[in-house]
Amino acid sequence: MRSLLILGASGDLTGRLLFPGLARLLATGRHAGLTVVGAGSEDWTTDQWSQRVHDATEDSLKDATDAGRAELERIRRESTYEKLDVTAPGALAGEIARLPAPVAVYFALPPAVSQKACSLLEASELPEGTRLALEKPFGSSEASAAELNNTLRQLVPESQIHRIDHFLGKGTVLNILGLRFANNFLEPVWNRDHIEKVEIFFDEDLALEGRAGYYDRAGALRDMIQSHLLHVLAIIAMDAPARLDERDLRDGISSVLRAARVEAPFTGSTRRARYTAGNLASRDVPDYTSEPGVDPSRGTETLAEITVTLASWRWAGVPFILRSGKALGTKRKEAVVTFKPVPHLPEGFRGVDEPNRLRIGFGPDVLQLDVDVNGPGDVLNLNRVTLDADLGETDLLPYGEVLDGVLNGDPLLSVRGDTAESCWRVVEPVLNAWAADEVPMDAYPAGSGGPAGWATSAKGEDGTEGGLK
Ligand code: BG6
Repeated sequence: MRSLLILGASGDLTGRLLFPGLARLLATGRHAGLTVVGAGSEDWTTDQWSQRVHDATEDSLKDATDAGRAELERIRRESTYEKLDVTAPGALAGEIARLPAPVAVYFALPPAVSQKACSLLEASELPEGTRLALEKPFGSSEASAAELNNTLRQLVPESQIHRIDHFLGKGTVLNILGLRFANNFLEPVWNRDHIEKVEIFFDEDLALEGRAGYYDRAGALRDMIQSHLLHVLAIIAMDAPARLDERDLRDGISSVLRAARVEAPFTGSTRRARYTAGNLASRDVPDYTSEPGVDPSRGTETLAEITVTLASWRWAGVPFILRSGKALGTKRKEAVVTFKPVPHLPEGFRGVDEPNRLRIGFGPDVLQLDVDVNGPGDVLNLNRVTLDADLGETDLLPYGEVLDGVLNGDPLLSVRGDTAESCWRVVEPVLNAWAADEVPMDAYPAGSGGPAGWATSAKGEDGTEGGLK
């Protein structure tokens, strides 16, 4: 790629995640000579943009290779900002035509704006090799995702469309592939005969952080579960692909999500809640409905949980519980696989036997297996021990990984069109039931462990059993 055009460049996502990810990638010396242009609807001065680029590249400069440092310094000098209304006919096409081709266009924009901008591109011939990268959420329903897919396919082939889910660039997600498909001991037990349940948690200790404009229309289910956690589920549940290429890997993900359902009644298979005033990391947080920019009539949830089942021989009857929330007292970001009890525990063992659990941490990236062994002391006494591996940091940030794919023209780590539609198909019945108030909205004080009664069985980051901790 010769150019990267970031739309929504003055937005929060570009400053917080996208540009730092790009900086970490360029610091490796890859993609030398790339022209990087930011565009947005705000009237930003060159100085404002330079400041943003400066801040976002600061950390990466420290660890850059010589070639990477030279690249980052060049980007700091040369990157420019354009004021651009992408919903004005011809404006975006003109900007793409002006840049050295081929151009990767990154839409860090709300779905309705991306849809409008892409529809307008249909009137123009895009330069050969143009790639389109679209930030999540991709559409706002199965129908609108299908419509956006149709529009995009008029513009460029599917292989040049990158639907971004930065969880696919997380080391942990790639670790699941290695763990499952490069070792022989898991596959024989990785099914309904041996696994009781799979839980995927992403409990955050961050509150709204000034993102009401986006979050209040999204809520926890759309923001985190609809794409991110469903992809983690798919990678845990998929069959081994023949190759780790974009076709086989994404076929595997797609077939899991086609089999995924949330069963009605949703009062049994889903829960939702919203935070009330509380204290989070020594900071007072107001009731969600009093946060600036929140419209209480939208009924947005800040904590969501759904139980997904998979219509397949491997997984029939195994619940996949997906939960994510904001303003929780304890961070908990992990997948926990709970195994069934042994069919017969020899009489004579003392102590409690507990199910084996495998934990896959999403940062810190760890792998832990809880097992019962005789242990020290009384040889017939069972002791719980944890086999623990720290997997360390990956070289690139998740956004660096996915941008590397965009700039290399490899869609392996981006969401395929049919999968983007499947993700909406899974959550849409739940969203409709919640909009019709079929499921009560629970409450929890910010900084707490979640609503009373939402106990879970597995341990949190701080080792506490039960609750959301
Ligand atoms: C984003 C969500 O996609 O993912 C945020 O919009 C969330 O609400 C974030 O905080 C979590 O991902 P990470 O990688 O930043 O922990």
